[in-house]
Amino acid sequence: MEAAAHRRLIVALDFPAPAPALDLARRLAGRIGMVKVGSELFTAAGPAVVRQLAEMGWKIFLDLKFHDIPTTVAGAVAAAGRLPGVRLLNVHALGGLAMMRAARAGLKRSRHRPKLVAVTVLTSHDADSLRRCGIVGPPQRRAVALARLAQRAGLDGVVCSARELARIRKVCGKRFLTVVPGIRPAGAARADQQRIATPAAALRAGADYLVIGRPITRARDPLAATEAIVAELKAALTGRI
Ligand code: C5P
Repeated sequence: MEAAAHRRLIVALDFPAPAPALDLARRLAGRIGMVKVGSELFTAAGPAVVRQLAEMGWKIFLDLKFHDIPTTVAGAVAAAGRLPGVRLLNVHALGGLAMMRAARAGLKRSRHRPKLVAVTVLTSHDADSLRRCGIVGPPQRRAVALARLAQRAGLDGVVCSARELARIRKVCGKRFLTVVPGIRPAGAARADQQRIATPAAALRAGADYLVIGRPITRARDPLAATEAIVAELKAALTGRI
């Protein structure tokens, strides 16, 4: 998928209340492609904040990472798909093939069917933290295997780190959507993220969408931080860096 640099950028509105999220969304209007509502904001503010963002004209990535038995996930995905403005939503690939197929079936009646993607391996995991969960081997190999499973279930794409992106592209093809968090501009704090990449590196590796939270939301000047990232993406797309 080819889209203008700023449209590839999704900003994670990870706030504990709707006011700061809506305020930042207002300031970002026209500058990025989508906003992300995750479990923190959704738990605090519920579907109302999604409706408010949709009324402002935003396309929304509803990042609730469902992971439950197939029937429950099908119902949750169906409810999410009925919310206005939701263009992208996700489940955990570790929920398995039947769960992902049920999730896809849950979207059948949605009028504007959002794209459904699966989280492969959280970008906050490294090999050691995966091993402690009983999952042995490099995170990359696990992420590629889960991407294949998501594709087999009929999902539109995956959430993955930039590290395994090229391999997933090769195995799952060009049209398989890739959404990449764990993005850190050079010099930004890594915080709890492990498998990170710069915006330019993620784009060059083939990301359709980049998800960025704290490097923007915690910046002293979030608009300036956004503009700097968009400039980096433009330069990467035109081969200037
Ligand atoms: O602040 P930061 O840029 O690390 O935010 C990344 C965002 O992407 C968070 O909202 C996090 O929940 C989300 N995310 C992630 N890793 C995934 C899926 C989503 O970091 N695998």
